[in-house]
Amino acid sequence: MKNIQNITKDLLYIGSSDRKLSLFEAVYPVVDGVSYNSYLLVDDKTVLFDTVDKHCCEQFFENLKAGLDGKNLDYFIINHLEPDHSALIKKVIEKYNNVKLVCNAKTKQMLAQFFEFDFDIENNFQIVKEGDILSTENHEFTFVMAPMVHWPEVMVTYDKKDKILFSADAFGSFGALNGNIFDSETELNINEYRRYYTNIVGKYGTQVNALLNKASSHEINMICPLHGVIIKENISKLVNLYSKWANYEAEINSVLIAYASVYGGTQNAAEVLATKLSQKGIKNIKMHDVSMVHHSFILSDAFKYSHVVIAAPTYNNGIFIKMEQFINDIVSHNLQNRTYAIIENGSWAPNCASAIKTKLETLKGSSFIENKITIKSNPKTNQEEEIEKLVNSIVNNIKKEG
Ligand code: FEO
Repeated sequence: MKNIQNITKDLLYIGSSDRKLSLFEAVYPVVDGVSYNSYLLVDDKTVLFDTVDKHCCEQFFENLKAGLDGKNLDYFIINHLEPDHSALIKKVIEKYNNVKLVCNAKTKQMLAQFFEFDFDIENNFQIVKEGDILSTENHEFTFVMAPMVHWPEVMVTYDKKDKILFSADAFGSFGALNGNIFDSETELNINEYRRYYTNIVGKYGTQVNALLNKASSHEINMICPLHGVIIKENISKLVNLYSKWANYEAEINSVLIAYASVYGGTQNAAEVLATKLSQKGIKNIKMHDVSMVHHSFILSDAFKYSHVVIAAPTYNNGIFIKMEQFINDIVSHNLQNRTYAIIENGSWAPNCASAIKTKLETLKGSSFIENKITIKSNPKTNQEEEIEKLVNSIVNNIKKEG
């Protein structure tokens, strides 16, 4: 059965949600599923905006057929070629073989990496570049290139008439849709917006800023992303958050404590540190055991918090593996402007603090609270003063920045 909804009188939502997927991109847990959004404009000319993941193929074609209601498919705008949106491109051309594929030159080049066409599609292409315009009788679409948000071929499309931005992956979120397709109908889970942004495009702050700058020259009443609900009421809230994330600005002046603990000694030190921070007035402290929590959630909090405490055992004369993975994740996502404090542990040669610092100091704007703590197996009563000193340094640093 078709499952489509009107967004405006001539724009339809024809996407689908997946609640069976365990790992998005084979990496990220999606406990609330994920949506793959596709849109269909039914003007004098018809326009399809992207497709869906292959797992949603049957529903998609049922929706597309119902949405077209006997009309031809005239244009197919490909904003993003990642397979969660492009899997059905070949099938669309097979079913609607006169359709014009509206895409940029990079998309055309990359299309051949994903599909072997056993028919000639050269005449199907309408290649567009920055600022080009496509008109259907009542609508005029402008194309804005957005390379690396999230792949090099990405572009976004702006509808001048209804002031709608088809934003590709930008302004998307993990989470299936639950009947409600607008942000006015359901509460946004900002934690999942942040986890999606930071893990998927967090590395590309410069490119996200470039897109935000270009988009700011258009009046936008609605954002239609490729994942998550359509944004009408939270446009400025999300744009402000994107600006913070793209500039690697923390959302709150507080402390994320990421710890790993094999037998409890490091955890004990981390817990005592958290208690003392709280007693000094620090609110909203967040602790993660990096061995127990998927790294995508911890990275997301690292983008949110101004200060990050790393507490880890020494392992194989280096950093405990789960902590090393988390630190590598921070580095590969280019997180900048954070203040770090380090607690190292070890039963015979506690020496991982310098290796942790060496990795993190490669990031622009990293700074370090200098009085690191070294534990041998378990923190000792006579180390409470040391922890107290570290807490005072963190608190003073937060006050200085706040
Ligand atoms: Fe949702 Fe970059 O694909």
